[in-house]
Amino acid sequence: MNQSELKQVAAERAALFVEDGMTIGLGTGSTVFFLVEAIARRIKEEGLHIQGVATSSRTANQAAELGIKMLDLNDVDHIDLTIDGADEIDKHFQGIKGGGAAHTLEKMVAINSTRNIWIVDESKLVPVLGKFPLPTEVIPFGCEQVFKRLEAENLHPHFRLDADGERIRTHNQNFVIDLHMGAIKHPHLLKQFLDSEVGILEHGLFLDLVNTVVVGTQDGAQVLDA
Ligand code: A5P
Repeated sequence: MNQSELKQVAAERAALFVEDGMTIGLGTGSTVFFLVEAIARRIKEEGLHIQGVATSSRTANQAAELGIKMLDLNDVDHIDLTIDGADEIDKHFQGIKGGGAAHTLEKMVAINSTRNIWIVDESKLVPVLGKFPLPTEVIPFGCEQVFKRLEAENLHPHFRLDADGERIRTHNQNFVIDLHMGAIKHPHLLKQFLDSEVGILEHGLFLDLVNTVVVGTQDGAQVLDA
């Protein structure tokens, strides 16, 4: 199986965690694409009553087109379960997200969910986080100063650019600065620093949020519990 097929295997297994009556947080990315298809299929075939909260307009549009009832995060009193992709996951189930620049909305939905599950192909499991550049979202006002502070901390910042060399914009019209820092030996300390940096709206370190990871492997889906 290729990487995309492994993502599909993980997504389809994770869709079985969805139960009738649930409010489901739907992440963003190519793995979640398969998840949304699988949930929509279950709704149709099993007559489930499910409502969703999306973490990006991409996911919201796909889900709505497939007939999933979608709600705004402001309009739900709780989310039972959120299923999302990830860019890297270590053995303690700490992760990096934001390869699709949706990490702020993804974290908002994740922290408001009773349970979070990540779905990945096996290449995303790593011994130490940090090979994947850590995304941050910065507000445009004063962002050059934020950039200089990150540089001074040796975090190797790079503004994320689109194919035309322009700085990409997030859902909230902010910029993304990726930190090419290599191995993150102390994720909690780094989180503390990034949380306290004025001008950084959010970052892609997702710590202590997930207890279950569904991995697509050549032998099928594996459900890992912390
Ligand atoms: C979106 O911003 C990201 O957090 C994605 O969830 C993550 O990049 C995983 O994406 P894929 O499922 O496309 O690999």
